[in-house]
Amino acid sequence: KMKIGVLVSGGGSNLQAIMDAVAVGALDVEIACVGSDNPDAKGLERAEKAGIPTFVTDYSAFFARWKEGAALPEDFSLETVASRQSLMKGSDPDILKAFLEKRALAEAALLAALAPYKIDLLVLAGFMRVLTPYFIDALNTDSNRPRIMNIHPALLPAFPGTDGYGDTFRYGCKVGGCTVHFVDYGEDSGPIIGQSCFPIESSDDLDAVKKKGLAEEWRLFPDCIGLYAEDRLNVVERQGTRVVEILPPAAR
Ligand code: GAR
Repeated sequence: KMKIGVLVSGGGSNLQAIMDAVAVGALDVEIACVGSDNPDAKGLERAEKAGIPTFVTDYSAFFARWKEGAALPEDFSLETVASRQSLMKGSDPDILKAFLEKRALAEAALLAALAPYKIDLLVLAGFMRVLTPYFIDALNTDSNRPRIMNIHPALLPAFPGTDGYGDTFRYGCKVGGCTVHFVDYGEDSGPIIGQSCFPIESSDDLDAVKKKGLAEEWRLFPDCIGLYAEDRLNVVERQGTRVVEILPPAAR
């Protein structure tokens, strides 16, 4: 059975949807562990209740250690990671250096926490930290089979960032949606696996939009993880862009 790890920063309603799908047999994977950057994430409680091992990688503690001059991970090369980084292209070199070094400290701890579980896929379910090429390259050892999947609360490539539903609502969009994609070096820019949309009525406030969106997420995310588990996602090059091809179910 395929093993997944799940990272959460907050409420973990997507984690719950994944756990529920596994519990009813709609999703055939083992949730090997749940981790968080936030010791108070409600998602950790949900996992513990279900008997799933949890861990916390406290980013702020690692950032503080960086300030104190903590040694960087041995396999970290600023030059390599900076050259792959696309999120902060064009920013001040000192700022970029601090951004990448601080995160490398936290990400090395995250990798160490994940290692014993030998996961096939890492699922970001409301994980609100940027992952740098240092972390991504450690997991993505096969370029045709990315191993990090994220859910984003907007119809990408519209509204990347941390407030997808808010941005959608404030723009006055008449549809909103969510996107599951593989994680690459950019901001919410990796190959799209699945999307789901919903209408936004004039009577909807932001809360209503979020409610509709989350309901779509809870269906879409387990479905996409299931496609991965069935080995039905193929990353292919199409006119210069890496896109996901969804293969038909294997004939039985
Ligand atoms: C979800 O809406 C998810 O799409 C979003 O955070 C929420 C987490 O909810 N993720 C991002 O914005 C990622 N940048 P949950 O903790 O209840 O699953």
